[in-house]
Formats: sequence, structure tokens, C-alpha cells
Amino acid sequence: MLVDSHCHLDHLTLDDREGGLSAVIGAAKAKGINQFLTVAVDLASSASLVKLTAQYNCVYSSVGVHPLQKITQPVPSVEALVSLAEADRVVAIGETGLDNFYSAETLQWQRESFVNHLLAAQQTAKPIIIHTRDARDETIDLLRQYPLPAGGVMHCFTETWEMAQAAIELGFYISFSGIVTFKSAAELREVAKQVPLDRILVETDSPWLAPVPHRGKQNEPQYVREVAQCIAELRGISFEALAEITTQNFHRLFNIPELQ
Ligand code: NI
Repeated sequence: MLVDSHCHLDHLTLDDREGGLSAVIGAAKAKGINQFLTVAVDLASSASLVKLTAQYNCVYSSVGVHPLQKITQPVPSVEALVSLAEADRVVAIGETGLDNFYSAETLQWQRESFVNHLLAAQQTAKPIIIHTRDARDETIDLLRQYPLPAGGVMHCFTETWEMAQAAIELGFYISFSGIVTFKSAAELREVAKQVPLDRILVETDSPWLAPVPHRGKQNEPQYVREVAQCIAELRGISFEALAEITTQNFHRLFNIPELQ
């Protein structure tokens, strides 16, 4: 069994897909992918994902506001995040974090939002899902300032081994997406070789970032297989072994029961 530890099921384009979301989930299950964490990007999706997860007992969700949301949205309050996180099947806070790549001018908004997510993660004792790009030192500094009882994950990781190490020391997991399969990602594959096996997660971040050989198509959870296959090869272990350990890691981090 394999899991997709980070997808955005509410952002898939399903107009041409007979059977809609159920068909997407069915296609993944046919490939042995049996549990999914669909991640919120704003307060509206945080609330609406709760309705989605009520329909599928294999899907869990999170509560959070993505750092690249428009700064015309107010910074989410700790109270709003904590109260949304009380809903059933909400297993994490995020995605949140700092992204200096597209929008340095929004950094103040990002910082305030990130701190509120850290406080919500402290109050709810749920793990945090971090989006991080080009803001390595500041992200790690904030994580040191706000220790989290349940740790978290650096999702869709594309940064350095030094940052991965610092995050691992703080109790974090490192999650790899389809980017690890890209031809241009040789440095990232070196990082994926070094992360301790008990701290690795795999994800699609679908509908974005489809792995090789599906690049250019809409990404969906079934393609997490290609991500897992790539990392298994890098580590010199079987696909089954990598699938099993990343599934155990997923259950441990997000406190999710094994599928019966
Ligand atoms: Ni995402």
C-alpha cells in the first residue's frame, strides 16, 4: 500500500472525467494508493474540504492559508484556524510557510500568517504542513522559536540538504513530489538519497507538478507511484519497501489509523 501525503483534490479539473472525483480516487486505488491527504490553501477550502472528506473514508484534510494567497486576504487569525481544525478528519495545519521566489513583496503578510499557523499548530497539537522556497534561514528560525508538539512536514521539498537536516533535527519529515523525477533535479535526488528512511514522505501536490513520464498532463494521486518508484531506485530498495515505510511515516506523523 502507498499513500499520497499531499494533494489538492478540490483543484482538479474534472469536467472531462467520467465519474468525477470518485473515478480519480478509484484510479489511484487500482494502483495500490489507498489514503490521501487533501490540503487546504485558504479558509474557504479549509471549510469545504471537511464536506469532501465526509464522503470518502480514505481522504483526510488540513486547515490553512497558502503563503502565495493574495495579500488582499486578511492574515488568518489563530482562532479561525483552531476552530476550523476541530472538524472531523482534519489532521494538520497548513499549508503555510514562506515563499520568497514569486513574491518577496508579500513577505510581511506571509510571516504574520506563518506565525499564526505555528500558534494554531501548538494549540491543537496537530502537525504543520510547510511550503518553503528561498527562505531557508528565516523558516528554520521561526520553527526554532515556536516548537511544535507534533512536528510537521516540509512538503514538495526542493531546498538544500542543510535545510533538510535542520528540519529533521526539529522533528520534521521531508516530502518529495514529482519534481524529484525531473531531469533537472539532480541535486534534489542527492538530498532524497540522504534523508533517513523513517522521515521520508511521498506526494503528488496534484493537480500540479506531474512526474515523469506524465509531465504536461494534469497530475493526480495515482502518479505518486512514479515518485515512490524514483526514490526507491535512488535508495537501492524495492518499491514495496519504500511504499511501506512512507505509509508508516504518514500514519505516525498525521496520527491516521491504518486502513482496515
Ligand atoms: Ni500543495
